[in-house]
Amino acid sequence: QFQEGLAAAETMEALEALRVSYLGKKGQLTAIMRSMGQVPPEERPAMGQLANTVRATVDAALKARKEELSAALLEQKMVADAVDVTLPGRRLSSGTQHLINQIREEIEDIFCGLGYTVEDGPYVESTWYNFTALNAPEDHPSRSAKDTFYVVDNAPGTMLHAEETNVQGESDILLRTQTSGVQVHVMENKKPPIYMICPGTVFRPDTADANHLPQFTQVEGLVVDEGITFGDLKGTLDYFTREIFGKDRATRYRPHFFPFTEPSCEVDVSCGVCGGKGCRFCKNTGWLEILGAGMVDPNVFEFCGIDPEKYTGFAFGIGVERVAALRYDLPDLRMLMTGDMRFLRQF
Ligand code: PHE
Repeated sequence: QFQEGLAAAETMEALEALRVSYLGKKGQLTAIMRSMGQVPPEERPAMGQLANTVRATVDAALKARKEELSAALLEQKMVADAVDVTLPGRRLSSGTQHLINQIREEIEDIFCGLGYTVEDGPYVESTWYNFTALNAPEDHPSRSAKDTFYVVDNAPGTMLHAEETNVQGESDILLRTQTSGVQVHVMENKKPPIYMICPGTVFRPDTADANHLPQFTQVEGLVVDEGITFGDLKGTLDYFTREIFGKDRATRYRPHFFPFTEPSCEVDVSCGVCGGKGCRFCKNTGWLEILGAGMVDPNVFEFCGIDPEKYTGFAFGIGVERVAALRYDLPDLRMLMTGDMRFLRQF
């Protein structure tokens, strides 16, 4: 009976139950050993020996089976935990450059190829660099707190630049609303000839929607040299638009106003969706606006200590998010800010 039970015990628990049923306090064999007193004295030695032998046999068989079972269990566990070294490894997904940085680099490459330097400027500016030295009058609406983030509430009369009266804000320290201030920094620190671009983030208190972002990217351009004309501006920006949008795209120069350039213009590129015939993408005009530009106003040269009789120049400001939206037909600029990998991985 014990041998049968032993063969049937497939688990440690079953084996333990078997042990208890023979050798436990209330076990069958224990009961036999306990009843030894009732055996007649003359039979006791033989019976005692037999009982001991049986007990030793049962004990040894249980131990042997226990070892067998634990070996089998270990084997099972090893198979289950095994690492298949032939499986291909899991790839770590590497990051990619954000679309805006890709285009920004592309723009840098185009202008570096024309011999321009790439400059940098501060995000936090004073009204002097962002407005005054750029010939923006004191009452220009873009100076108001509605259109500019002022960042320090310094008391009137304690302006960073003593020249500033700052009628509109409490402060003359702000988050730059355009990269044009870098023109002033560069002209203060370098003598012409100047051929530079400055890519960077700019800030405006706009609510984000499909066409606006409170924070976006511009690439400023500035050329100052002897004998620079509007023809140079057109040639340069025509070249730029064809490099960015393709050789088959036309450009159009529309008169515009900027305080720091005169004459000023906005530059449109022909719509790539309809080829200039007019469609929903270009609001039926056939054209898409991509940048602002103009000839540097002589007042700006004077603010920056450059002789306007000797030098002329042009400047331009490209909206990088705009270029991205036009090139990839993006329905909503906010897609560029939310960091959704399903969108970003496409580029
Ligand atoms: N700073 C202008 C803007 O943000 C763009 C511009 C730059 C226009 C340089 C002319 C010259 O709209």
